[in-house]
Amino acid sequence: MSLQLAKDRLEEKGFLDIDIDPTLDLKEEIFRLKKEKNAIILAHYYQEGDIQDIADFIGDSLQLSQKAAATDADIILFAGVHFMAETAKILSPEKKVLLPDLHAGCSLADSCPADQFEQFKKAHPGAVVVAYVNCTAELKTLTDICCTSSNAVHVINSIEKDTPIIFAPDKNLGKYLIRKTGRDLILWNGTCMVHEIFSYEKIHKLKIRHPEAKLIAHPECEPELLEKADFIGSTSALLNYTKQNHTHTFIVATEPGIIHQMKKASPEKTFIPAPPQNNCACNECPHMKRNTLEKVWLSLKYELPEITLDEEVISKARTCIDRMLEISKKAGL
Ligand code: 13P
Ligand code: SF4
Repeated sequence: MSLQLAKDRLEEKGFLDIDIDPTLDLKEEIFRLKKEKNAIILAHYYQEGDIQDIADFIGDSLQLSQKAAATDADIILFAGVHFMAETAKILSPEKKVLLPDLHAGCSLADSCPADQFEQFKKAHPGAVVVAYVNCTAELKTLTDICCTSSNAVHVINSIEKDTPIIFAPDKNLGKYLIRKTGRDLILWNGTCMVHEIFSYEKIHKLKIRHPEAKLIAHPECEPELLEKADFIGSTSALLNYTKQNHTHTFIVATEPGIIHQMKKASPEKTFIPAPPQNNCACNECPHMKRNTLEKVWLSLKYELPEITLDEEVISKARTCIDRMLEISKKAGL
């Protein structure tokens, strides 16, 4: 297929929709293309196991942005969601950044349109804006300091006491930070569709059935769930906890993609995904799961879909990410 035809097909759907020869060894092909094109694949822990297995680096949002800033590859293929690929582009504007499916969005990023946020910001003059990295590049242009779940406490603590702080877009992470830092944050009303779906009743029953099990949770979960958790942390912190803790059973209250690495690291332990309220797979992030091995291969082959951003947006959005990376470095993260 010609590149132009591939571009036209991509325009329609946001991903390349092309029949692939079923006899093709996709993993081998992906390894060959990576080498040929000097490409690196960065994957978030919520990706399907097959994608994690072909990635050069798997990590949480902070680790992935640190990798994107440091790589000398010519192409970064981001197996994650749109805001992550945008962050990689902001940090490495000279590189080609690919996202296998342009529709891989994020409910948190969607909950905070930049124009509405600008009005919110105007209503709180003098406040420092801290935005969770799960937001659009445009929102980052209105942000003073970015943060991820692994450095958010350090970021809030870096701001002078008595300075008002707006925190967007995740109100659950915001409430967690209020408890952890004792600061009074002005919260935007956004949530992650995955982390608010867990059933407390079903988790309670699981705890009765497995009294020894530790409940581990991501801070994007609702406060009622976090109150009951034995450990709260970013995806990488949750993974490390399961490696180091001697308990054998863990109830995992985050997107279950992370369990792939937990099982690999501790095959003798049992990991139970925290169940959602309905009998559905809605604890899986529908955005993260838009990426497939087939789309990764097509994306590398055609070097599409590519993330492009306005130069002005890149330079304005970069400041808040650089501040976050500086604070993380000082904190040894
Ligand atoms: P971390 O991997 O940084 O904990 O973020 C989780 C998440 O929701 C990514 O979308
Ligand atoms: Fe966004 Fe939630 Fe999916 Fe993470 S898990 S990408 S926060 S919708």
